[in-house]
Amino acid sequence: MSKASTLDDAFYVLVTGANSGLGLGIGARLIDEFLQTRPQDESLVLIITTRDQRKGDAAIAALGEQLRKVCRKAEKKLPGVSQVLQRRVQLRQERLDLLSLVSVQKLSKKLRDTVPKLDVVICNAGIGGWTGINWLLAFRTILTSWKTSTTWPTFKLSGVGWTTKPQLPPAADGSEREEPPLGEVFCANFFGHYLLGHYLAPLLARRSQTKQALGRLIWTSSLEAYEHTFDIQDIQCLESTEAYESSKRLTDLMAITSVLPATEPHVNKYLDCEQPSEKITKPRIYLSHPGITHTPIMPLILVLDYAWMLVCYISRWLGSQWHVVTVDKGAVAAVWLALAKQSTLDTMEQREGVGKWGSAIDVRGNERVERTEVEGWGWGGEIGERPRKYGRSPYAKTLTPQSKENFVREGEQCWAELEKMRLDWEKRLDEAGVGVSME
Ligand SMILES: NC(=O)c1ccc[n+]([C@@H]2O[C@H](COP(=O)([O-])OP(=O)(O)OC[C@H]3O[C@@H](n4cnc5c(N)ncnc54)[C@H](OP(=O)(O)O)[C@@H]3O)[C@@H](O)[C@H]2O)c1
Repeated sequence: MSKASTLDDAFYVLVTGANSGLGLGIGARLIDEFLQTRPQDESLVLIITTRDQRKGDAAIAALGEQLRKVCRKAEKKLPGVSQVLQRRVQLRQERLDLLSLVSVQKLSKKLRDTVPKLDVVICNAGIGGWTGINWLLAFRTILTSWKTSTTWPTFKLSGVGWTTKPQLPPAADGSEREEPPLGEVFCANFFGHYLLGHYLAPLLARRSQTKQALGRLIWTSSLEAYEHTFDIQDIQCLESTEAYESSKRLTDLMAITSVLPATEPHVNKYLDCEQPSEKITKPRIYLSHPGITHTPIMPLILVLDYAWMLVCYISRWLGSQWHVVTVDKGAVAAVWLALAKQSTLDTMEQREGVGKWGSAIDVRGNERVERTEVEGWGWGGEIGERPRKYGRSPYAKTLTPQSKENFVREGEQCWAELEKMRLDWEKRLDEAGVGVSME
């Protein structure tokens, strides 16, 4: 690390679920883009989380190899630069199981004790919760409407009613403690990260002495965050036959409304920013999605996995802007949100409104970041905004004042419900003697 760059003013990024698929792609792209775009005196501390040490070691080895690759490339152009670049990146691994609230608390406490600040947290980890595929429907829809059916598929079969293992230990007499069910897909895709964001908010809020950027909490959504899959009465998607899609809709609702006045009291509590001071700034929640990327999220036997990859490439060649296919390209939106100048993000939001940023691609394979329509919010929540021609979901509807009002109201209800749920679980964990104090 260069003299000018102490650990305290290094750029700290946490990426969850970094041993596989997009998480690994995000880590690799982040190293690459950071070294290419940031000044020589800035360094990156990349903290990745995995569920076990073996996966963590493998991910660190893969990211180390990526770093060496970037260095070798740079060395060819500028001899001697490789050592400088190598010193600018520090990799660290941690354990996190989003299905265990205690695991979320333990990691948060450890980071609060050992890290001076966090600039970005990328909430990438997640599960599909699918049990298989309706093959007949898959063949029929792919052959009749290739691009649409491979972008917004209707043929995935979802598990229903899946819950996490008990969060509380048995009572002193060995009996099981009573606890409410916690939806597995909801917890892996949303609630675990929701708690993580809350506990890490003080690290995200620590203002850098030199930079004006806000701490960024980047939530991962999907193109499949359909309005019709979400029911606020079943916020944990326990009864839903589309739990994955429902959890992603919740992500959209809460991320977008997080900057609106209607949710401010909840969000201030969540981000621990009820009493702003000069030393801290309220972090920002940003919303991204990776397009359609070929990853192990849908487990398939090898031959079908290759067939799916081919189907995805064909969709791209047919003009689908969302079939980014590779994890490197799928990572473009999240990495851009992590590294973009604050002024760039602010200007774009002033121009286009707050919205969802997705990874997109052209037929030749050039990736880009593309604003993505959200049902009930449009691209930026502006009534009368001009609909974009490409990349619209089959469920897309023109934004109306009524649909926008419903969106904001539902977002506010979700924030109220999630804050209630967070406090309830914290109390339960504390009473059972397993809650981790953040003091
Ligand atoms: N692939 C796509 O086309 C696509 C599209 C839209 C959105 N996404 C989103 O992108 C994110 C990454 O997905 P992916 O496609 O890269 O899938 P993936 O390859 O299966 O990666 C998922 C990652 O999440 C981790 N994870 C799963 N459950 C976890 C838990 N309980 N606690 C901690 N980590 C956990 C996995 O760890 P293990 O290896 O230990 O299971 C893995 O590292 C997800 O949020 C997904 O919804 C993906």
